[in-house]
Amino acid sequence: MEVRLAECAGFCFGVKRAVDTVYEQIKTGKTIYTYGPIVHNEEVVKDLEKQGVRVIGSREELLSMNPEKVSDDQEAKKGTIIIRAHGVPREIQNILEQKGFECVDATCPFVKRIHRIVEKESNSGKHIIIIGNPGHPEVEGIRGWCNGPVTVLETYKEAEKFEVKPEEELCIVSQTTFNYNKFQHIVEIFEKKGYNGTVVNTICNATEERQRSAKALAAQADVMIVIGGRHSSNTRKLYEICSGECAQTYYIQTLDDLHLELPKAVRLVGITAGASTPNKLIEEVQNYVRVNF
Ligand code: F3S
Repeated sequence: MEVRLAECAGFCFGVKRAVDTVYEQIKTGKTIYTYGPIVHNEEVVKDLEKQGVRVIGSREELLSMNPEKVSDDQEAKKGTIIIRAHGVPREIQNILEQKGFECVDATCPFVKRIHRIVEKESNSGKHIIIIGNPGHPEVEGIRGWCNGPVTVLETYKEAEKFEVKPEEELCIVSQTTFNYNKFQHIVEIFEKKGYNGTVVNTICNATEERQRSAKALAAQADVMIVIGGRHSSNTRKLYEICSGECAQTYYIQTLDDLHLELPKAVRLVGITAGASTPNKLIEEVQNYVRVNF
């Protein structure tokens, strides 16, 4: 029996970079905070907690914090706050700096690029259209770098309803994880309206690559295992895709959830993992299946 990992699985470049940053910063011995959980994976967050990393849950919590009181024993123990891969609005970055925390920005460079685009384009007077989920922290972050009118749209209906003013120039960007076909369709709706301005496709292909390689592997596999957090929407999407190709698909969070019974006829077990699943966990599952079946 063969156990094969999908070509692209687990952490994307930006998330890996942010998580590595946290582990690096722990070594400094300072009190480490992350603004929001560094990644949507309970196991990783728990492990970091054990190592003393604290999560700042909201803007209000941040405002109520006083770096002088974080730990009064040593100057070197003043807090360091790490910005996660999703990025934050400029206002949050300003608060972090004003409060005197040391700030390490682990915003994914692809997200940072969008911040720079919307900042520049809104400074030149354009109305920014962000295609994405308005409640997602990445979108909130992008919104927070606009210096003028900004609209977030997620559905065709919202795009249809949007009123294009002839005197206004638009700059359309997208949340990095937005579905490409949906994005194209929304842009077409704007084209029909005859808008003025530019479209910048800011979708990151990490999600698509992960989905494409999961689908290809599931199509060949007799059993497919999808690893990822319970609340991770991209893992759920992988599960859906794999179930469509392979009837025996399992969704697990950790190795403890895996109760496999493999008939002798099984020749190929495929494994994939959501964007917030650490390599360590993927390897554990891979080794377990290899050794036990
Ligand atoms: Fe990941 Fe950055 Fe793309 S966080 S999904 S590599 S935009």
